[in-house]
Amino acid sequence: MGVARNAVLWAADNRWLRAHLPRRRWVRRSVARFMPGETVQDALEAAAALAERDLPTMFTELGENVVTMSEARSVAEHYLHVFDRIAERGLDTEISVKPTHLGMDLDPEATLVNLEELAAKADEHGNWLWLDMESHPYVDDTLGLYRKLRAGHGHVGICLQAYLKRTHADIESLLPLDPTIRLVKGAYKEPEDIVFRSPDVIDEAYRRLALRILQGKGEVGRLALGTHDVDLIERIAYDAGGHDRFEVHMLYGIRQPDLLRMGAESHTIRSLIAYGTFWYPWYLRRIAEKPVENTLLALRNLVTRG
Ligand code: FDA
Repeated sequence: MGVARNAVLWAADNRWLRAHLPRRRWVRRSVARFMPGETVQDALEAAAALAERDLPTMFTELGENVVTMSEARSVAEHYLHVFDRIAERGLDTEISVKPTHLGMDLDPEATLVNLEELAAKADEHGNWLWLDMESHPYVDDTLGLYRKLRAGHGHVGICLQAYLKRTHADIESLLPLDPTIRLVKGAYKEPEDIVFRSPDVIDEAYRRLALRILQGKGEVGRLALGTHDVDLIERIAYDAGGHDRFEVHMLYGIRQPDLLRMGAESHTIRSLIAYGTFWYPWYLRRIAEKPVENTLLALRNLVTRG
């Protein structure tokens, strides 16, 4: 299983495949399972449909590692506009951004200015801004940006990855800020010495980290379990003494019946909708999470292409 995951994550970073595979119709058809479309309008329509089923949402425009700060500025302006459109439509839809999509690896100061503006817009609408967590070279800078944002804004959250050995210490350092945290297992191909490798060990780290966050957070902070692992969620609910102590966030198109059931059982839930044209590496990371089943599904689309 590890070999299949590594092969798919290798393909996610391969330049030739990045340039060629997204043009194939069978690939585009496979990705439709995980995203409603490439435009923000597609995402808004999907969010409105989910709202009718009492399922709040979160948006992210796919993209990472922009190469100029003017590109980063366009991304920030796009998100400012999206915050307004969400408000106009009265949707309960938060926004999550990748720091390198806003220029973090080019100019962290200018990125902070972009993020400050987004956080202020979130405050203006009573909405929330989240920072995704990317691969390990970006963790320190992302935490640094979060600390600065959190100093001035209540409605900002950050994603932390349970597979990283350092995350326990990162949580201890964030808890005095009353942080809002989305805890995930982690999606990137990382050097073996900095991550837990066995799925059981990652799950146990995840459980302990979730309980530690619940023990240490204050009045404002939220804990979102960003996982489709229903058994793990139930174990944490049992240990934490209730479903109402945290939220459950899942990705659009994955285990939605479970998420809706949890909502009906008094969990606070949310579905993350990704949109945009830059979907190839993101889609391959989804395949890597369940490599055998998802590759077979994609191949079935290849065989039945028409
Ligand atoms: P696990 O992989 O153990 O899966 C549990 C079960 O869920 C599987 O048995 C399967 O049934 C189902 N499942 C999971 N993934 C599936 C898939 N792709 N297709 C079909 N079934 C699937 N990562 C990161 O590094 N930085 C980030 O910012 C984020 N942000 C984020 C937000 C949200 C809301 C979610 C849900 C996830 C992320 N992730 C992320 C991704 C995360 O790190 C992780 O890779 C995935 O959530 C898959 O791991 P699970 O926790 O679901 O468990």
